[in-house]
Amino acid sequence: MQTVGVVGAGQMGAGIAQVSAQAGYRVLLADVSRERAESGKSSIAKQLERAVTKEKITAQARDAALALIVPVDSVAAMADCTLVIEAATEREEIKRAIFAEIGKVLGPQAILASNTSSIPITRLAQAAPDAGRFVGVHFFNPVPVMGLIELIRGLATSDETVQTVEAFAQKLGKQVVHANDAPGFIVNRVLMPMLNEACFALGEGVAGVRDIDLGCTLGLNQPMGPLTLADFIGLDTCLEILRVLHTGTGDPKFRPAPLLVKYVEAGWFGRKSKRGFYDYTGAEPVPTR
Ligand SMILES: NC(=O)c1ccc[n+]([C@@H]2O[C@H](COP(=O)([O-])OP(=O)(O)OC[C@H]3O[C@@H](n4cnc5c(N)ncnc54)[C@H](O)[C@@H]3O)[C@@H](O)[C@H]2O)c1
Repeated sequence: MQTVGVVGAGQMGAGIAQVSAQAGYRVLLADVSRERAESGKSSIAKQLERAVTKEKITAQARDAALALIVPVDSVAAMADCTLVIEAATEREEIKRAIFAEIGKVLGPQAILASNTSSIPITRLAQAAPDAGRFVGVHFFNPVPVMGLIELIRGLATSDETVQTVEAFAQKLGKQVVHANDAPGFIVNRVLMPMLNEACFALGEGVAGVRDIDLGCTLGLNQPMGPLTLADFIGLDTCLEILRVLHTGTGDPKFRPAPLLVKYVEAGWFGRKSKRGFYDYTGAEPVPTR
Protein backbone atom coordinates (compact mmCIF):
# COMPACT_ATOMS: atom_id res chain seq x y z
CA MET A 1 0.00 0.00 0.00
CA GLN A 2 1.28 3.47 -0.85
CA THR A 3 1.93 5.93 1.93
CA VAL A 4 1.12 9.61 1.52
CA GLY A 5 2.56 12.29 3.82
CA VAL A 6 0.49 15.35 4.66
CA VAL A 7 2.25 18.27 6.34
CA GLY A 8 -0.07 20.70 8.11
CA ALA A 9 -3.14 19.32 9.86
CA GLY A 10 -5.31 22.47 9.63
CA GLN A 11 -8.52 22.75 7.64
CA MET A 12 -6.92 21.83 4.29
CA GLY A 13 -4.37 19.27 5.53
CA ALA A 14 -7.01 17.43 7.55
CA GLY A 15 -9.31 17.36 4.51
CA ILE A 16 -6.52 16.07 2.26
CA ALA A 17 -5.60 13.37 4.81
CA GLN A 18 -9.26 12.36 5.08
CA VAL A 19 -9.90 11.95 1.35
CA SER A 20 -6.57 10.16 0.86
CA ALA A 21 -7.41 7.65 3.60
CA GLN A 22 -10.91 7.20 2.21
CA ALA A 23 -9.28 6.33 -1.13
CA GLY A 24 -7.26 3.62 0.64
CA TYR A 25 -3.89 5.32 1.13
CA ARG A 26 -2.01 5.07 4.39
CA VAL A 27 -1.48 8.66 5.58
CA LEU A 28 1.21 10.10 7.83
CA LEU A 29 -0.04 13.41 9.20
CA ALA A 30 2.39 15.99 10.62
CA ASP A 31 2.03 19.49 12.05
CA VAL A 32 4.21 21.64 14.31
CA SER A 33 3.83 19.03 17.05
CA ARG A 34 2.41 15.57 17.61
CA GLU A 35 -0.46 17.16 19.58
CA ARG A 36 -1.47 19.35 16.62
CA ALA A 37 -1.33 16.35 14.30
CA GLU A 38 -3.52 14.38 16.76
CA SER A 39 -5.97 17.27 16.89
CA GLY A 40 -6.10 17.24 13.06
CA LYS A 41 -7.01 13.57 13.24
CA SER A 42 -9.73 14.33 15.82
CA SER A 43 -11.32 16.84 13.46
CA ILE A 44 -11.24 14.22 10.69
CA ALA A 45 -12.96 11.78 13.06
CA LYS A 46 -15.74 14.37 13.61
CA GLN A 47 -16.17 14.88 9.86
CA LEU A 48 -16.38 11.14 9.26
CA GLU A 49 -18.85 10.77 12.13
CA ARG A 50 -21.05 13.41 10.51
CA ALA A 51 -20.86 11.51 7.21
CA VAL A 52 -21.98 8.32 9.00
CA THR A 53 -24.90 10.16 10.64
CA LYS A 54 -25.98 11.47 7.24
CA GLU A 55 -25.65 7.91 5.89
CA LYS A 56 -23.09 9.00 3.31
CA ILE A 57 -20.58 6.38 4.50
CA THR A 58 -20.82 3.29 6.68
CA ALA A 59 -19.37 2.98 10.19
CA GLN A 60 -17.03 0.39 8.74
CA ALA A 61 -15.71 2.84 6.10
CA ARG A 62 -15.21 5.44 8.84
CA ASP A 63 -13.18 3.02 10.96
CA ALA A 64 -11.14 1.87 7.95
CA ALA A 65 -10.27 5.46 6.98
CA LEU A 66 -9.37 6.47 10.55
CA ALA A 67 -7.16 3.41 10.99
CA LEU A 68 -5.12 4.52 7.95
CA ILE A 69 -4.30 7.98 9.38
CA VAL A 70 -1.22 8.06 11.58
CA PRO A 71 -0.28 11.31 13.33
CA VAL A 72 3.52 11.65 13.49
CA ASP A 73 5.96 13.87 15.41
CA SER A 74 7.54 15.46 12.36
CA VAL A 75 8.28 15.10 8.66
CA ALA A 76 11.33 13.01 9.59
CA ALA A 77 8.87 10.07 9.80
CA MET A 78 8.00 10.41 6.07
CA ALA A 79 10.97 8.55 4.56
CA ASP A 80 8.80 5.82 3.00
CA CYS A 81 6.19 8.17 1.50
CA THR A 82 5.83 8.13 -2.29
CA LEU A 83 4.02 11.46 -2.21
CA VAL A 84 4.19 14.24 0.38
CA ILE A 85 1.62 17.04 0.23
CA GLU A 86 2.46 20.22 2.09
CA ALA A 87 -0.60 22.11 3.38
CA ALA A 88 0.97 24.28 6.07
CA THR A 89 0.35 27.96 6.78
CA GLU A 90 0.57 30.20 3.69
CA ARG A 91 3.95 31.73 4.48
CA GLU A 92 6.85 31.16 2.16
CA GLU A 93 9.52 30.88 4.86
CA ILE A 94 7.46 28.21 6.67
CA LYS A 95 7.08 26.16 3.49
CA ARG A 96 10.77 26.53 2.61
CA ALA A 97 11.81 25.30 6.07
CA ILE A 98 9.48 22.30 5.73
CA PHE A 99 10.92 21.40 2.32
CA ALA A 100 14.45 21.56 3.72
CA GLU A 101 13.46 19.09 6.46
CA ILE A 102 11.69 16.78 4.01
CA GLY A 103 14.70 16.91 1.69
CA LYS A 104 16.72 15.08 4.36
CA VAL A 105 14.46 11.99 4.25
CA LEU A 106 12.50 11.94 0.96
CA GLY A 107 13.25 8.95 -1.29
CA PRO A 108 14.83 9.45 -4.75
CA GLN A 109 11.53 8.73 -6.59
CA ALA A 110 9.16 10.46 -4.19
CA ILE A 111 7.16 13.52 -5.19
CA LEU A 112 6.68 16.66 -3.12
CA ALA A 113 3.54 18.73 -3.77
CA SER A 114 2.36 22.03 -2.30
CA ASN A 115 -1.25 23.08 -1.72
CA THR A 116 -0.28 26.77 -1.78
CA SER A 117 -3.03 29.09 -3.05
CA SER A 118 -0.75 31.85 -4.17
CA ILE A 119 3.01 31.33 -3.89
CA PRO A 120 4.66 30.69 -7.30
CA ILE A 121 5.46 26.98 -7.73
CA THR A 122 8.65 27.65 -9.69
CA ARG A 123 9.99 29.79 -6.84
CA LEU A 124 8.97 27.31 -4.12
CA ALA A 125 10.62 24.51 -6.13
CA GLN A 126 13.97 26.15 -5.43
CA ALA A 127 13.64 25.03 -1.81
CA ALA A 128 12.51 21.50 -2.74
CA PRO A 129 14.93 18.54 -2.92
CA ASP A 130 14.29 18.17 -6.70
CA ALA A 131 12.41 20.77 -8.79
CA GLY A 132 11.51 18.06 -11.33
CA ARG A 133 9.59 16.15 -8.65
CA PHE A 134 7.85 19.24 -7.28
CA VAL A 135 4.33 20.33 -8.29
CA GLY A 136 1.42 22.46 -7.12
CA VAL A 137 -1.68 20.52 -6.10
CA HIS A 138 -4.41 23.02 -5.26
CA PHE A 139 -7.35 21.48 -3.42
CA PHE A 140 -10.55 23.40 -2.66
CA ASN A 141 -12.27 23.95 0.65
CA PRO A 142 -13.94 21.86 2.08
CA VAL A 143 -11.76 19.15 0.54
CA PRO A 144 -14.15 16.18 1.02
CA VAL A 145 -16.94 18.12 -0.72
CA MET A 146 -15.21 19.97 -3.54
CA GLY A 147 -14.56 17.91 -6.65
CA LEU A 148 -11.69 19.88 -8.16
CA ILE A 149 -7.90 19.90 -7.99
CA GLU A 150 -5.80 22.40 -9.93
CA LEU A 151 -2.43 20.90 -10.90
CA ILE A 152 0.21 23.56 -11.35
CA ARG A 153 3.48 22.77 -13.00
CA GLY A 154 6.54 24.84 -12.29
CA LEU A 155 9.08 25.46 -15.05
CA ALA A 156 11.08 22.37 -14.06
CA THR A 157 8.23 20.00 -13.10
CA SER A 158 8.61 16.73 -15.05
CA ASP A 159 5.84 15.13 -17.12
CA GLU A 160 6.11 12.01 -14.97
CA THR A 161 5.47 14.04 -11.81
CA VAL A 162 2.34 15.59 -13.33
CA GLN A 163 1.07 12.18 -14.51
CA THR A 164 1.67 10.53 -11.13
CA VAL A 165 -0.13 13.26 -9.19
CA GLU A 166 -2.98 13.34 -11.71
CA ALA A 167 -3.47 9.59 -11.22
CA PHE A 168 -3.49 10.15 -7.44
CA ALA A 169 -6.10 12.95 -7.80
CA GLN A 170 -8.30 10.68 -9.90
CA LYS A 171 -8.05 7.96 -7.26
CA LEU A 172 -9.44 10.50 -4.79
CA GLY A 173 -12.38 10.97 -7.16
CA LYS A 174 -11.39 14.53 -8.06
CA GLN A 175 -11.42 16.17 -11.48
CA VAL A 176 -8.13 17.76 -12.50
CA VAL A 177 -7.51 20.96 -14.38
CA HIS A 178 -4.00 21.90 -15.47
CA ALA A 179 -2.68 25.39 -14.96
CA ASN A 180 0.62 27.04 -15.62
CA ASP A 181 2.46 28.78 -12.83
CA ALA A 182 0.74 32.19 -13.01
CA PRO A 183 -0.62 34.27 -10.11
CA GLY A 184 -3.94 32.88 -8.82
CA PHE A 185 -3.74 29.92 -11.23
CA ILE A 186 -7.19 29.50 -12.89
CA VAL A 187 -9.95 29.64 -10.31
CA ASN A 188 -8.76 32.47 -8.07
CA ARG A 189 -7.69 34.47 -11.12
CA VAL A 190 -11.29 34.42 -12.33
CA LEU A 191 -13.07 34.48 -8.97
CA MET A 192 -11.20 37.18 -7.06
CA PRO A 193 -12.00 40.09 -9.42
CA MET A 194 -15.70 39.31 -8.92
CA LEU A 195 -15.45 39.20 -5.11
CA ASN A 196 -13.33 42.36 -5.17
CA GLU A 197 -15.86 44.14 -7.42
CA ALA A 198 -18.63 43.25 -4.96
CA CYS A 199 -16.53 44.95 -2.24
CA PHE A 200 -16.07 48.04 -4.45
CA ALA A 201 -19.83 48.12 -5.15
CA LEU A 202 -20.62 47.90 -1.44
CA GLY A 203 -18.01 50.54 -0.55
CA GLU A 204 -19.28 52.93 -3.25
CA GLY A 205 -22.87 52.58 -2.05
CA VAL A 206 -24.20 50.85 -5.18
CA ALA A 207 -26.27 48.55 -2.93
CA GLY A 208 -26.27 46.91 0.50
CA VAL A 209 -24.92 43.46 1.42
CA ARG A 210 -28.28 41.70 1.05
CA ASP A 211 -29.04 43.17 -2.37
CA ILE A 212 -25.57 42.51 -3.81
CA ASP A 213 -25.65 38.90 -2.66
CA LEU A 214 -29.26 38.20 -3.61
CA GLY A 215 -28.78 39.96 -6.97
CA CYS A 216 -25.77 37.80 -7.83
CA THR A 217 -27.29 34.59 -6.42
CA LEU A 218 -30.49 34.83 -8.45
CA GLY A 219 -29.29 36.97 -11.35
CA LEU A 220 -26.19 34.88 -12.05
CA ASN A 221 -27.63 31.57 -10.85
CA GLN A 222 -24.86 31.09 -8.30
CA PRO A 223 -25.19 29.01 -5.13
CA MET A 224 -24.24 31.96 -2.91
CA GLY A 225 -23.54 35.68 -3.26
CA PRO A 226 -19.98 37.06 -3.59
CA LEU A 227 -19.94 38.68 -0.13
CA THR A 228 -21.11 35.45 1.52
CA LEU A 229 -18.42 33.56 -0.39
CA ALA A 230 -15.73 36.09 0.57
CA ASP A 231 -16.72 35.72 4.25
CA PHE A 232 -16.55 31.94 3.86
CA ILE A 233 -13.08 31.95 2.26
CA GLY A 234 -11.83 34.51 4.80
CA LEU A 235 -11.42 38.22 3.97
CA ASP A 236 -7.74 38.08 4.97
CA THR A 237 -7.20 35.22 2.53
CA CYS A 238 -9.07 37.06 -0.24
CA LEU A 239 -6.93 40.15 0.36
CA GLU A 240 -3.75 38.09 0.33
CA ILE A 241 -4.66 36.47 -2.98
CA LEU A 242 -5.65 39.83 -4.52
CA ARG A 243 -2.30 41.26 -3.48
CA VAL A 244 -0.51 38.33 -5.12
CA LEU A 245 -2.55 38.90 -8.31
CA HIS A 246 -1.91 42.66 -8.18
CA THR A 247 1.84 42.50 -7.60
CA GLY A 248 2.34 39.33 -9.68
CA THR A 249 0.68 40.70 -12.82
CA GLY A 250 1.29 44.44 -12.23
CA ASP A 251 -2.25 44.93 -13.54
CA PRO A 252 -4.31 47.63 -11.73
CA LYS A 253 -7.51 45.66 -12.35
CA PHE A 254 -6.56 43.50 -9.34
CA ARG A 255 -6.21 46.49 -6.94
CA PRO A 256 -7.90 45.39 -3.67
CA ALA A 257 -11.05 47.34 -2.79
CA PRO A 258 -10.37 49.86 0.02
CA LEU A 259 -13.34 48.48 2.00
CA LEU A 260 -11.85 44.98 1.91
CA VAL A 261 -8.53 46.33 3.19
CA LYS A 262 -10.34 48.20 5.99
CA TYR A 263 -12.28 45.11 7.07
CA VAL A 264 -9.10 43.08 7.31
CA GLU A 265 -7.40 45.89 9.25
CA ALA A 266 -10.37 45.81 11.64
CA GLY A 267 -9.88 42.07 12.19
CA TRP A 268 -13.21 41.38 10.43
CA PHE A 269 -12.11 38.26 8.56
CA GLY A 270 -15.54 36.76 7.85
CA ARG A 271 -17.01 33.59 9.31
CA LYS A 272 -13.88 32.56 11.20
CA SER A 273 -13.86 35.80 13.24
CA LYS A 274 -17.70 35.88 13.47
CA ARG A 275 -17.76 39.23 11.67
CA GLY A 276 -17.27 40.13 8.03
CA PHE A 277 -19.90 41.40 5.60
CA TYR A 278 -22.27 39.49 7.85
CA ASP A 279 -22.45 39.14 11.62
CA TYR A 280 -22.25 35.46 12.60
CA THR A 281 -22.84 35.75 16.34
CA GLY A 282 -26.52 34.73 16.13
CA ALA A 283 -28.32 31.70 14.73
CA GLU A 284 -28.50 33.25 11.21
CA PRO A 285 -25.96 35.52 9.47
CA VAL A 286 -27.09 39.16 9.55
CA PRO A 287 -25.93 41.67 6.88
CA THR A 288 -23.87 44.46 8.46
CA ARG A 289 -24.42 47.23 5.86
N1 LIG B 1 -8.42 27.68 3.30
C1 LIG B 1 -8.64 27.53 2.00
O1 LIG B 1 -9.74 27.78 1.50
C2 LIG B 1 -7.51 27.04 1.12
C3 LIG B 1 -7.81 26.55 -0.15
C4 LIG B 1 -6.77 26.05 -0.96
C5 LIG B 1 -5.48 26.08 -0.50
N2 LIG B 1 -5.20 26.58 0.75
C6 LIG B 1 -3.80 26.56 1.20
O2 LIG B 1 -3.63 25.45 2.09
C7 LIG B 1 -2.60 25.74 3.03
C8 LIG B 1 -3.13 25.56 4.45
O3 LIG B 1 -4.25 26.39 4.62
P1 LIG B 1 -5.34 26.09 5.77
O4 LIG B 1 -6.54 26.88 5.38
O5 LIG B 1 -5.44 24.64 6.01
O6 LIG B 1 -4.64 26.77 7.02
P2 LIG B 1 -4.78 26.37 8.57
O7 LIG B 1 -4.33 27.58 9.31
O8 LIG B 1 -6.12 25.79 8.85
O9 LIG B 1 -3.69 25.18 8.75
C9 LIG B 1 -2.33 25.37 8.61
C10 LIG B 1 -1.64 24.33 9.51
O10 LIG B 1 -0.23 24.37 9.22
C11 LIG B 1 0.42 24.12 10.44
N3 LIG B 1 1.82 24.50 10.37
C12 LIG B 1 2.38 25.73 10.49
N4 LIG B 1 3.72 25.64 10.40
C13 LIG B 1 4.02 24.33 10.24
C14 LIG B 1 5.24 23.61 10.12
N5 LIG B 1 6.41 24.22 10.16
N6 LIG B 1 5.17 22.26 9.98
C15 LIG B 1 3.98 21.62 9.94
N7 LIG B 1 2.80 22.26 10.06
C16 LIG B 1 2.81 23.60 10.20
C17 LIG B 1 -0.38 24.93 11.46
O11 LIG B 1 -0.10 24.53 12.79
C18 LIG B 1 -1.80 24.63 11.00
O12 LIG B 1 -2.33 23.49 11.66
C19 LIG B 1 -2.13 27.16 2.71
O13 LIG B 1 -1.03 27.08 1.85
C20 LIG B 1 -3.33 27.75 1.98
O14 LIG B 1 -2.99 28.81 1.11
C21 LIG B 1 -6.18 27.05 1.58
